[in-house]
Amino acid sequence: MIGIAGTKVDPVMVHFATRCVLSGIEFAVLDLMEVALDGEWRLSAPGDPDDFVAGSETVRLGDLTGLYMRPIYVGRTPSEAARWQGLLDGLHAWIDEADLLVVNRPGANQLNSYKPAHYAWLTAHGLCVPSSLLSSDPDRLAAFIAEGPTVVKPISGVRARTRAIEACHLERLAASEGPVLVQQRIDGDDVRAHVVGDEVIACRFSSTEIDYRSDRHAERAVVELPSELAQLLVTATAEQGLTFAGWDFKVDADETYWCLECNPMPGYSFYDRVCHGGVSTALISLLTREQD
Ligand SMILES: Nc1ncnc2c1ncn2[C@@H]1O[C@H](COP(=O)(O)OP(=O)(O)O)[C@@H](O)[C@H]1O
Ligand SMILES: [Mg+2]
Repeated sequence: MIGIAGTKVDPVMVHFATRCVLSGIEFAVLDLMEVALDGEWRLSAPGDPDDFVAGSETVRLGDLTGLYMRPIYVGRTPSEAARWQGLLDGLHAWIDEADLLVVNRPGANQLNSYKPAHYAWLTAHGLCVPSSLLSSDPDRLAAFIAEGPTVVKPISGVRARTRAIEACHLERLAASEGPVLVQQRIDGDDVRAHVVGDEVIACRFSSTEIDYRSDRHAERAVVELPSELAQLLVTATAEQGLTFAGWDFKVDADETYWCLECNPMPGYSFYDRVCHGGVSTALISLLTREQD
């Protein structure tokens, strides 16, 4: 039986649970927010057959064949935050000792939440990353923008819009607080590739918008990546301690794949609809597989 640990208000978790229902796969929901607010848990390290997590459903952890984790905190008060932290600390310790496939194990070694370090890591691993600059120096930013079309982007993994930037916008930026991340703009299609274990499932989008996610009319198709790139993504995903990752690319007119980022907790439901549930099928097959 698969365990799905997250919160029911997360559409991605609901999507995965729905795909499990459609596939006739048994699963248990560990609604971590509900457990943290009103529930109970017993977690031992090393694990014990009586260990459980109980919200509206009581889940014996020993019954699980695999665990899909999307811990998203949606509490408010300090006491909710403290209970959430206690639950997650316990669960992480339990997972560390468990002989169970976890997608994704907490604490995986990846740097997506700080983009400059993330880009350096991707480049060092052989991916082609657009040149970028993080600076609060208006002169350096102006010099970067003068070199060619540029976008400005969020620095952390927090969801925000990437936008085109031109020299005339700099005055406003110079007055803003903190550094700005600018990046060489790549024109072309977008590709989102999901790695699940050693499988790669990719979709390609053609759009006139800078960020295709805001374009409902973007053309979309399931595609096969060049095999060397696919192999590199599988290796680089595993090297970050991840089993499941969502890789973003721009593909230019020469068919060069420019890597934008590797998402360690991909909100993949939108892409799964494009590829007819292929990502969920791969996740289900991994999470139900007998461990060696
Ligand atoms: N250098 C770039 N050139 C052109 N488009 C970009 C560039 N960087 C980002 N984008 C567009 O913005 C989207 C979001 O950027 P991304 O780096 O994936 O950050 P996030 O998904 O965290 O917002 C990309 O999928 C792409 O469509
Ligand atoms: Mg992205």
